Amino acid sequence: MTEMTLNEGLDAYPSAVTDNHEIERIIGESRVMREAKLRLEEVARSGCATVLLRGQTGTGRDLAARVIHYNSDRASHPFVAISCASLPERLLEAELFGRAIARGDGEPAKGILELADQGTVFLDEVAGISLAMQARLLQFLEDSCVRRQGDEPVRTVNVRIIAATATDLEKSVRDGHFNEELYRRLEVLPVDLPPLRTREGDVRLLVSHFIGMFNREFRKDVKGVTPEAIKLLEAHSWPENVRELKNTIEQAVLLASENVLGVDDFPNLAGQSDDPDFRLPASGLNLRDLERRLVIQALERTQGNRTRAARLLGLNRDQMRYRVAKFGLKERRFIDNAPEAIQ
Ligand SMILES: Nc1ncnc2c1ncn2[C@@H]1O[C@H](COP(=O)(O)OP(=O)(O)OP(=O)(O)O)[C@@H](O)[C@H]1O
Ligand SMILES: [Mg+2]
Repeated sequence: MTEMTLNEGLDAYPSAVTDNHEIERIIGESRVMREAKLRLEEVARSGCATVLLRGQTGTGRDLAARVIHYNSDRASHPFVAISCASLPERLLEAELFGRAIARGDGEPAKGILELADQGTVFLDEVAGISLAMQARLLQFLEDSCVRRQGDEPVRTVNVRIIAATATDLEKSVRDGHFNEELYRRLEVLPVDLPPLRTREGDVRLLVSHFIGMFNREFRKDVKGVTPEAIKLLEAHSWPENVRELKNTIEQAVLLASENVLGVDDFPNLAGQSDDPDFRLPASGLNLRDLERRLVIQALERTQGNRTRAARLLGLNRDQMRYRVAKFGLKERRFIDNAPEAIQ
């Protein structure tokens, strides 16, 4: 197995092949995550040439792309990842399609589409590609042909493209920033990675998973976290999702002086819940709007379960039903990053 990461125009380098890419390594038993894992399995098995991973930063797009690759029949061929966002057009073109000009060793530089032949290319931040390169990529998806920069011969390759985006591509299409045809091709097989705050019950599973991981790495013996600390961790909204939680646990395990982590081991979070959260801003606020946004957030966090959402807000079912009707929320879906959600 070959695995490479290309970023910021660096040359390909083989990196350690991660040992195990089973679906089980994706921690999460919430309904939204069980659905996402089933979908990933389905996608991995399907021979479909393109996959679109949609998820905010830190939701596990990288992990999901690897899981798809290593559970597909391409697993013994290369997996190559590239982040498109920050690469200038010519550089991205060279990275993808290659260059005719020989490198130091005299070999023409293969692009990653050739390097990954029979395998998978992971194009992260696909919304960052220029319109001209989007057109080239679309052409490639149609004919599977690669022509290196400044080189005539055309080679045919067989790669699966997994594209990932944190941006709403449909909106980018509407705004004229993304090629509609390319979008249609990519979204044939979409997989949604939900924000961590909507994965009910998963924070505590991830916490113990990461404690185990960092115990091994730092030779520590942290046994767990106090109930107060779990409450704190579960109440946080995790705008940077699993990556942020992982970093938080890493730091806490590394610095832990006791073998049970308490609220004090999460100083960055503690400040947020200690203070009486809702202070009236000097400029005042719109109470009705705030109420509506809190109701939406509670419904999001519970995937639309009104009883549990009511409990989060200290309401009974009838009071919740009244508010759902009052704010006209009946038709909304509550599993994704609704724009009104309070971050
Ligand atoms: N469900 C999960 N179970 C276990 N580990 C996870 C899960 N999701 C993410 N991780 C871990 O969290 C870290 C961040 O995930 P990953 O890099 O896949 O996210 P990303 O969406 O690609 O983030 P970025 O926006 O930084 O590119 C990785 O170390 C990954 O292994
Ligand atoms: Mg990533």
